[in-house]
Amino acid sequence: MERFAIRGQICYSENQKTIRTIEHGYVVCEDGKSIGVFETLPEKWSGIPCHDYGDRLIIPGLIDLHVHAPQYPFRGLGMDQELIDWLNTHTFPEEEKYQDLEYAKKAYTIFLDDLLHSATTRACVFGTCHPDATLWLMEQMEEAGLAGYVGKVNMDRNSPEGLCEESAKASAEATENWILAAKNLFNVRPILTPRFIPTCSDELMERLSGLQKKYNLPMQSHLSENLSEIDWVKELQPKATCYGDSYRIYGLFGGDCPTIMAHCVYSGEEEIRMMKEQGVFVAHCPESNANLASGIAPARKYMEQGMQMGLGTDVAAGSSLSLFRAMAMAIQCSKLRWRLVDQSQAPLTVEEVFYLATKGGGAFFGKAGSLEEGYEFDAVVIDDQKIRHARPLSVRERLERLIYLDGDARVEAKYIKGKQVI
Ligand code: GUN
Ligand code: FE
Repeated sequence: MERFAIRGQICYSENQKTIRTIEHGYVVCEDGKSIGVFETLPEKWSGIPCHDYGDRLIIPGLIDLHVHAPQYPFRGLGMDQELIDWLNTHTFPEEEKYQDLEYAKKAYTIFLDDLLHSATTRACVFGTCHPDATLWLMEQMEEAGLAGYVGKVNMDRNSPEGLCEESAKASAEATENWILAAKNLFNVRPILTPRFIPTCSDELMERLSGLQKKYNLPMQSHLSENLSEIDWVKELQPKATCYGDSYRIYGLFGGDCPTIMAHCVYSGEEEIRMMKEQGVFVAHCPESNANLASGIAPARKYMEQGMQMGLGTDVAAGSSLSLFRAMAMAIQCSKLRWRLVDQSQAPLTVEEVFYLATKGGGAFFGKAGSLEEGYEFDAVVIDDQKIRHARPLSVRERLERLIYLDGDARVEAKYIKGKQVI
C-alpha cells in the first residue's frame, strides 16, 4: 500500500455551480487514488510522506477531450480558411509527413514534451493514418507517465493520394494490427478514429464497427462542425436522418461504444436527442470553432440538457495545448453567442468551464477530474507567483486569473494516477 499527501492551496470543482477551495489543505493518495481532501491531515496518517507546496495552487489534472498530435508543428499558422480548405491546404500535407517515422519522432517529441509540462493529465488524441508513428506516439506518451486514448486515423476516400489508405480492407487490417501491437500499453489505450464521414467509406465504417465489437473499443470523431461539411455528409449518406445518424447506423455512436464527438456546433434536436440517449460526449472546442469560422457551439444548451461534455483544444485548429485558454474561450464565445445569437442562453461561468475541463471531460475516463475521494489521483501544482498583483487574492480569484492569464504561470509538479511525472 503506497500512501502520501500533498499540501497547498487546493481548488476543485464540486459540481457545475461550485468550486471548493481549501487553504493549505491536504489531498491524500492511496494506491493511485485520492482518499480525500482535508483541512488538516487526519491523525491516522500523520506519519505518511507529505510534499508541502506552500502557497502554490493545486488543481485536478485537466482533461483534453480532443487534440491532433500531428498538427502541432503548424499550430498558430494558416488560420485564414474554413474547414475543408484548411484540411486540404495545411492539414493533409502535414499529416502526410508522418509516413516518415523519423519526422514523426521529431515532431511527436516536441508535442509530448509540451503536453507533459502543461496542466493536462489526460487527453484523447488523434494520430495520423500511419500505424508505426501512432504506436510510437502511444509508447512515448505512456513512458512519459501521461494517460489517455490515442487513435490511428482511418481515411479511405476524399483524401490526397499520399494520405489516403489503399482500401477499406487495408485500413481496417492496419487498424487491427495496430490494436494488437498496443496491447501491452496500460495508461494510453487505443481508440477507433474514423476521421469523419467525408473521408470514410461505408465499407470502412462497417469494418470499424466489426473491430469495435471484437475489441470492445471506444471511438472518437468529428460531428456537425461546419456548414459545408454537413451538406457534404448529407450527400454522402442520404439514408442517415442527421450527421450523427451516419455514425449510429454503424453502431459507432455511444451506447456500448463510448464515443467522443468533437464540435457539435450545428447539432439539431434529433442529433441532440440521440447523443443524450446514447451518452455521447461532446468535445467543445471553442478556439478551433472561432479560428476556422465554424461557428459557436450552443454549450449552454448542452449543459441545460444534461449532456456529457468536456473541452478540447483541437490543436492545430486551436492554437494552444492550454486548457486554461480553452476555458477562457468557452466563456468568451458563449458571451458573444448570448449577445448576438440567442439571449435566452446565458454565458458560461468560471465555475462551469472549470467543471467542463475537469469533471465534465474526466467522466469519459470513469473517475477522473477531481481530487475528491475515489477519483484517480491526477493533480497539478501551479506556481503563479510571477503574475504580480497589488493586492492579495483569494484562491478562487487566483484560479479565475489563471484561466485568463495562464501564459504567465508554470506547472511545478504533476501527478497522474498517483505517480509524479514532473
Ligand atoms: N474534421 C476532419 N478532420 C479534422 C481535423 O483535423 N480538424 C478539425 N477541426 N476538423 C476536422
Ligand atoms: Fe479535430
